[in-house]
Amino acid sequence: MSFKEEINRRKTFGIVSHPDAGKTTLTEKLLLFGGAIQEAGAVKSNKIKKTATSDFMEIEKQRGISVATSVMGFEYKGMKINILDTPGHKDFAEDTYRTLTAVDSVIVVIDVAKGVEEQTEKLVEVCRMRNTPIIVFINKMDREGKEAFDLLDEVEQKLNLSVLPMSWPVGMGRRFQGVYNLHERKLVLFRAHGKQEDSIEITDLNSEELDKQVGDAAAKELREEVKLIREVYPEFEREDYLEAVVSPVFFGSAINNFGIKEMLDVFVDIAPTPLPRQTEEREVDPFEKNMTGFVFKIHANMDPRHRDRIAFMRICSGTFERNTNYLHVRQGKKMKFPNPTTFMASKKSVVDEAYPGDVVGLYDSGNFKIGDTMTEGEELHFKGIPSFSPEQFRYVDNADPMKQKQLQKGLVQLMDEGVAQLFTKEINNRKIIGTVGALQFEVIQYRLKHEYGASCRYEPVHLHKACWVSCDDAVAMREFEKRRKKDLAKDKDGNLVFLAESAWMLKMAQDNHPEVQFHFTSEF
Ligand code: G4P
Repeated sequence: MSFKEEINRRKTFGIVSHPDAGKTTLTEKLLLFGGAIQEAGAVKSNKIKKTATSDFMEIEKQRGISVATSVMGFEYKGMKINILDTPGHKDFAEDTYRTLTAVDSVIVVIDVAKGVEEQTEKLVEVCRMRNTPIIVFINKMDREGKEAFDLLDEVEQKLNLSVLPMSWPVGMGRRFQGVYNLHERKLVLFRAHGKQEDSIEITDLNSEELDKQVGDAAAKELREEVKLIREVYPEFEREDYLEAVVSPVFFGSAINNFGIKEMLDVFVDIAPTPLPRQTEEREVDPFEKNMTGFVFKIHANMDPRHRDRIAFMRICSGTFERNTNYLHVRQGKKMKFPNPTTFMASKKSVVDEAYPGDVVGLYDSGNFKIGDTMTEGEELHFKGIPSFSPEQFRYVDNADPMKQKQLQKGLVQLMDEGVAQLFTKEINNRKIIGTVGALQFEVIQYRLKHEYGASCRYEPVHLHKACWVSCDDAVAMREFEKRRKKDLAKDKDGNLVFLAESAWMLKMAQDNHPEVQFHFTSEF
């Protein structure tokens, strides 16, 4: 197969949802279709059960599992499909945000009964920042839930997406009979508790066959609803989806493996293949000969005797080859990788070659930071892998004067991994750790002790948000820095950050310093 064909058959995407909506179940069914696994239950759920939220060791274990399921590749209809796994737990939301920088499209799973939940809103917001094409899967149609039209309205309003139903449910819960494929004009029946799936071509919904199959009442309802859909929603245009203007919607039941094949068949048809990516210097086209890639996730080894980590690199152009020297741009040094790994479902294997859209796992002894670029020599820096404004804060102090160095090293490495963010206050040099979730504080303390032999102590600090600040007007910036010195800190790269004690304080600062811009991600 030619280099071009390899790229054109790759579809790299992520599944996002609020915990419990059915992401793991859907992933597993997709892998079953692709033949990557043979039986249900093969994909370990990396979700952290609600009952275990206070048990961070359990969470670390779960994170261990999630290495195996970080990238799941499978073949379907000649396409190579890569699913990048995203942690569902909200305390690891930043991991998820970053993974979303490495995908070309996204499937959002929504629970029909719960509708659009908080975590989904946040994740879709991140997708929208990047104009990532989105398909929506409304799950658990075998349960009672919200009416389909109401749900579509909710998706439009809360997620700010223009939706376009591609299939339409016939009933729900106990009355759920199947879905009508609006695109192919085919009725797919859900029978015998999903054990069996029938599909019947019904091009004309007025046909009596429909009444025969689903009963008069359901047939009448479907006719009315489809008429309304055809009036309200435009025809599907792939361009609109690719430009993230329109999101196709499917209905089904993941656990019953129903409605998934319909979605997958459309997905392989319409989802984008690897797209050009922006660097600070220029746009990189996937078809360029030279290899480029960036690290979007770093995973520490669970075994304290081996401090190595796995850095996950998304290939953006060219062919990645094992044992070949590449330039680590930030460090300005050449590195080669004797054992790069790829992942087919839960199986990990050494890879000789990888193409744009693929993700390779690189063993790392501390050389990588999130966002690092590898090339064949060109000095490029991929854009769009920001840090996100954290929401939980604590002062961090050294609890063991003999281990100051270890603490320093540990903190730097954990921050490079993206576990949390470290800010140094301008006024007194005190260090503040900022995270998206509260669990990270325990994780950091535990890992500092076990991996670096260092002890830290936390002290509460009352903060609402940290945001990056910039200003074109040097005089105004100096004035702002002078007046706000006590609220300013530097992030790990030396960028200026405003620490707001409350939403009101943030608003005051914005009002009093209109020339200064406040940013909620580190890239602006
Ligand atoms: P997540 O990864 O998004 O967190 O969700 P997951 O797939 O683990 O699914 C959450 C729960 O919802 C699971 O039940 C799963 O079996 C159930 N589920 C998934 N799809 C459907 C569906 O189409 N219909 C119905 N009725 N349920 C569905 P659980 O009891 O929490 O876990 P388990 O013990 O079954 O694994």
